[in-house]
Amino acid sequence: MIAGRFIALEGGEGVGKSTQARLLAQDLRARGFDVVITREPGGTAGAETIRSLLLTTEGEGWGARAEALLFAAARADHVEKLIRPALARGAWVICDRYVDSSRAYQGGAGGLSDADVLALHGIGSEGLLPDRTLLLTIDPAVSAQRLALRDGDSADRIGGRDARYHAGVAAAFLRFAAEESRRFAVINAQGTPDEVARRAFAAIADLIAQ
Ligand code: TYD
Repeated sequence: MIAGRFIALEGGEGVGKSTQARLLAQDLRARGFDVVITREPGGTAGAETIRSLLLTTEGEGWGARAEALLFAAARADHVEKLIRPALARGAWVICDRYVDSSRAYQGGAGGLSDADVLALHGIGSEGLLPDRTLLLTIDPAVSAQRLALRDGDSADRIGGRDARYHAGVAAAFLRFAAEESRRFAVINAQGTPDEVARRAFAAIADLIAQ
């Protein structure tokens, strides 16, 4: 059986992950690959239900631990029902956010240890990791501008947390990329969408050749 390839896009709010996921999928499809594009939290019916629990529940919201368990549960459903079957049939899976978001948001910024977040991932998704994780980075002032245009005053529960939280997220992502330099590629996400897409494509080109 030919195994497909699993690419995740990561980064803070407003770095352009969804646009880049779409452009990468287009490019790979044009080369004849079967491509599944998906996102987290979400991607399956069950995981989308958990997404709305996480991002739009009224009231006091979740603590970091409950939040981490919910993300891990959503991911477990997504991996079992969508990601693993697609990879098994030889498709490429492009996922807008994956476990490194849990490590950065609930771990680095939320206060859980990385070991605990990874333990949840071990239980939920048998530790499945992407073949390549593209970390999109931009100047925080630029992302703040993009977000103001996109969300106005309607940022979700997590996106709307303070600048210190988001700085913790950004620092954690960079730390993971430095520690796992074979899996990660750090992509400068400033420039036109096509410019960034070229950088992203160059960072996965070796996976096509194999
Ligand atoms: P989304 O609308 O996908 O955000 P964005 O467009 O900025 O990527 O909302 C997902 C939110 O959930 C985002 O604030 C990041 C957060 N998140 C976590 O905290 N942990 C996770 O494991 C994942 C997948 C997302």
